[in-house]
Amino acid sequence: MCKKSLVSITDYSKEDILRILNLTKKFDENPNRRLLEGKVCATLFFEPSTRTRLSFETAVNRLGGRIIGFSDAATTSSSKGETLKDTIAMVNNYADIIIMRHHLEGAARYASEVSAIPIINAGDGANQHPTQTMLDLYSIFKTQGTLDDLTITVVGDLKYGRTVHSLIIGMSHFNPTFNFVAPEELRLPETYKNFCDSHGIKYHEYVDFSPEVINSADIIYMTRVQRERFTDLMEYEKVKNIYILRKDMISETKENMKILHPLPRVNEIQQDVDDSPKAYYFEQAKNGVFTREAVICDALNINVD
Ligand code: CP
Repeated sequence: MCKKSLVSITDYSKEDILRILNLTKKFDENPNRRLLEGKVCATLFFEPSTRTRLSFETAVNRLGGRIIGFSDAATTSSSKGETLKDTIAMVNNYADIIIMRHHLEGAARYASEVSAIPIINAGDGANQHPTQTMLDLYSIFKTQGTLDDLTITVVGDLKYGRTVHSLIIGMSHFNPTFNFVAPEELRLPETYKNFCDSHGIKYHEYVDFSPEVINSADIIYMTRVQRERFTDLMEYEKVKNIYILRKDMISETKENMKILHPLPRVNEIQQDVDDSPKAYYFEQAKNGVFTREAVICDALNINVD
């Protein structure tokens, strides 16, 4: 496997995370640097995206690099039956780094094993979304002044939400307390609860999105119910409106509390919450550009100073 690929957030140690966050701060202060001149970055999106693809492409453009790629696999030869292995081999001929989103869990790991150039996982099925986690950690640090000892209330689709799975692992270095709020059907998979147990991470599970859970949080991390992961759409219909955050529900929350959401939002945060100083999800998405500048430079061993 190429050493500098980022497939899972477990590829980063605590020191790596802190180093990337430090780099992200530098790009936040000055995003326009000609560090990728002469480099070609490929964005291969086999699944839809707005933020991840556009923020990666903005990051490359701000750093003076060039972009090739696709946002719709139907326009590529994979629709004729070309294998992922062959597609990766071809793009190895053209680019210096591959940023890839795929609907299959494990696709990014497989790509990293057959690629000679770094693979950055931009989301693989319900599995992992490590660059989202890096921008989430940066957003938490920027708003809280620390990553340590925070109470994080994670709400919604904890079963299929890959950003939740990566966030739990990413935060595990910083002594968090998690409140996991989900209906029975969308509870956090055992594997992530086992991870919490084996790493001494405190967590509580709830079905009710109660005032106690809301008011004790430093961060409320809302998520969308992932319709595209359900095999039975009747099951989706049962849970799609289960948690909706309204403005009146955050009136007694902690002064420092911020609401995050990886986006896209459907209806789980009412639009009148957007005006609250506690709503941080649009700034969170903006932080994605700085974070992805840092991740790309790190993967390509480019010295930012
Ligand atoms: N947060 C996120 O992954 O958004 P997109 O699906 O729009 O890329």
